[in-house]
Amino acid sequence: MKLLDIFGALKKDMDVIEQQLYRSIEGDEDLLSETSLHLLKAGGKRLRPVFVLLGGKFGDYDLNKLQHVAVPLELIHSASLVHDDVIDDAGTRRGKPTVKAKWDNKIAMYTGDFIYAKALMMATTLENPELHRILAKAMVQMSIGEMEQIRDFFNTDQSVRNYLLRIRRKTALLIAISCQLGALAADAPSSVHHRLYRYGYNVGMAFQIRDDLLDLLGTEKTIGKPPGSDMRQGNITLPVIYALQEEGLRAPLLAELEQIRAAGLTADTSSAINMIRRSEGIRQSEELADRFIAKAFNALEGLPECKAKSHLKEIALFVNKRSY
Ligand code: IPE
Ligand code: IPE
Ligand code: MG
Ligand code: MG
Repeated sequence: MKLLDIFGALKKDMDVIEQQLYRSIEGDEDLLSETSLHLLKAGGKRLRPVFVLLGGKFGDYDLNKLQHVAVPLELIHSASLVHDDVIDDAGTRRGKPTVKAKWDNKIAMYTGDFIYAKALMMATTLENPELHRILAKAMVQMSIGEMEQIRDFFNTDQSVRNYLLRIRRKTALLIAISCQLGALAADAPSSVHHRLYRYGYNVGMAFQIRDDLLDLLGTEKTIGKPPGSDMRQGNITLPVIYALQEEGLRAPLLAELEQIRAAGLTADTSSAINMIRRSEGIRQSEELADRFIAKAFNALEGLPECKAKSHLKEIALFVNKRSY
């Protein structure tokens, strides 16, 4: 299933957003434009802009205004990925070499900064200071989330709660505000954007859990990077945390993780992956993702029945079934 099939109705407006995205980073300096374009051209689901547009459907839908929210949000997401790939030492993203791999860490650092700055620039036309406050707050939280990721690299004693707090910051909040800001920019009533925020938050939590499951269950072709990358990078994700709680599994899995740590980024993760696949960790993680999706559905109740609402439901289902 392609996400585009779900939001075919938004295609025309998404094309405008796509053009604006490219336009927003063109021109200033050849290398910065090249490195920024490299990531944008590699594709991506453009999920955050889609949420902005759908949120906008609950108020006075004005693409001119909404694009000044949607483009910055996708840029913030993109910048965070450029930096995330430095933190995670990731070689591939979206099936292409990462900026840090194709150029280097220093260039990736300023590419991320440049894209963040472009996001701010594009947002300057937004008059409501509340929009700026919400955007800035989310960026602060994302930085904290990434710092927590660094702190917890190879921390095999972390709790599920720890993990949930981290993914709330690094992933779910940005998705939550994408839904919220679309409605806010379209002057929808506050009850509507509160519900959309709650929907986005819960979808975002499920989204990251699924992302972490895909890293263990997917193939390089479907996920655009080698499976097991999280473990190689030291990122202990939910299925691993659950598997480590299994009595008979803890010791052998700890030994595998230690070997992976020692071998570094070229480590063979296949036996650790097999252990986790055979553990209850996969099912437990899927169950938790299901619970977040159910909460997302719950948040939509009380919103007026409309096409946008059914699209949001479809996206929630897509997130929970996605293979890319
Ligand atoms: C990747 O996000 C990082 C996470 C928050 C899991 P996406 O899966 O939305 O990335 P693209 O934009 O589609 O590549
Ligand atoms: C998500 O974390 C990245 C951000 C939210 C910035 P991951 O490290 O899991 O994302 P991928 O797997 O590299 O896309
Ligand atoms: Mg990463
Ligand atoms: Mg990941």
